[in-house]
Amino acid sequence: MENDRLVMPTVRDEDSETELSLRPKRLKDYIGQNKVKESLKIYICAALKRREALDHILLYGPPGLGKTTLAGIVAVEMGQNIRITSGPAIERPGDLASILTNLSHGDVLFIDEIHRLSRSVEEVLYPAMEDYALDLMIGKGPTARSMRLELPKFTLIGATTRAGLLSAPLRDRFGITFRLEMYEPKELAGIIKRSAGILGIKADDEGIMEISRRSRGTPRIANRMLKRVRDFAQVRADGIITKEVAHQGLDMLAVDELGLDRVDRTVLTTMIDKFAGGPVGLDTLAASTGEDATTIEDVYEPYLLQLGFIQRTPRGRMVTPACYQHFGLETPQKKQEEWQVQQMGLFDENL
Ligand code: ADE
Repeated sequence: MENDRLVMPTVRDEDSETELSLRPKRLKDYIGQNKVKESLKIYICAALKRREALDHILLYGPPGLGKTTLAGIVAVEMGQNIRITSGPAIERPGDLASILTNLSHGDVLFIDEIHRLSRSVEEVLYPAMEDYALDLMIGKGPTARSMRLELPKFTLIGATTRAGLLSAPLRDRFGITFRLEMYEPKELAGIIKRSAGILGIKADDEGIMEISRRSRGTPRIANRMLKRVRDFAQVRADGIITKEVAHQGLDMLAVDELGLDRVDRTVLTTMIDKFAGGPVGLDTLAASTGEDATTIEDVYEPYLLQLGFIQRTPRGRMVTPACYQHFGLETPQKKQEEWQVQQMGLFDENL
């Protein structure tokens, strides 16, 4: 469907340049994700004291929350270099072998979208992670033998949108696993304020809060909106982002008070109008909205779940009374009852 959405949390061309200048380099400048930061501080401090490489780290969570940024910070805090690559970029086992043999002691290797590594590449990674070794096959057929090559001790940081997408053997080889959470509006406001300072953008606290509320808990979206609203402020106002300016600018971009855009509204209203509020299977929903099922699941759904507008059930996705309310609709009686049963089911599971 639309890849040019302002609220798309995945990287867009316009992000690359500013993301680099806005990325915090040190842990002390990284806002939010407090639990992750606290644990990381301890692990980094301990590894530095022992003069060892840090254990391998798996970062998972929705896109745009700062997984690459965090990997860069780990490298800086450890005083080491980082090599950045991604699952789809490593096509053959030989590609990974060449990356691994070029690492130096203590280096951080960051593999984004690590769930997209092929099986044969993954198999090269296992001994590399576990024993810092590369197993090479020499020759073919009955005379083939394997040779073990020693690798420098390195830290692998893997990033994925969902830990469940990873194969169990790969997941088990990470010593440390962190789940990144969506940011609270206050934390996002801190990030926007910091970015405005770096980019020389004038914005008051209320203007910042207005952008923060609409950025879907995602720093990448917040920074993108900040730049768009700055343009609006320069052309339509006196260059300062106030609440009113942010409100008007984002309204013009068709992003509502909760950060929902046309695509989100289409997904939700399709569920309401065509499927009586659900439950509807992910693939059916994908087909009727013209969107890819994986994209719905990894990119749009996390925020709609966070808002409490949809719920996952064993029979598919359903919209919640809060969603009906957002669209100014009454929740049908039958849905209300189904919803209550659903809530009780969830409650039982938690007992
Ligand atoms: N830019 C992107 N993510 C950030 C974060 N968590 N803290 C500060 N700046 C950021």
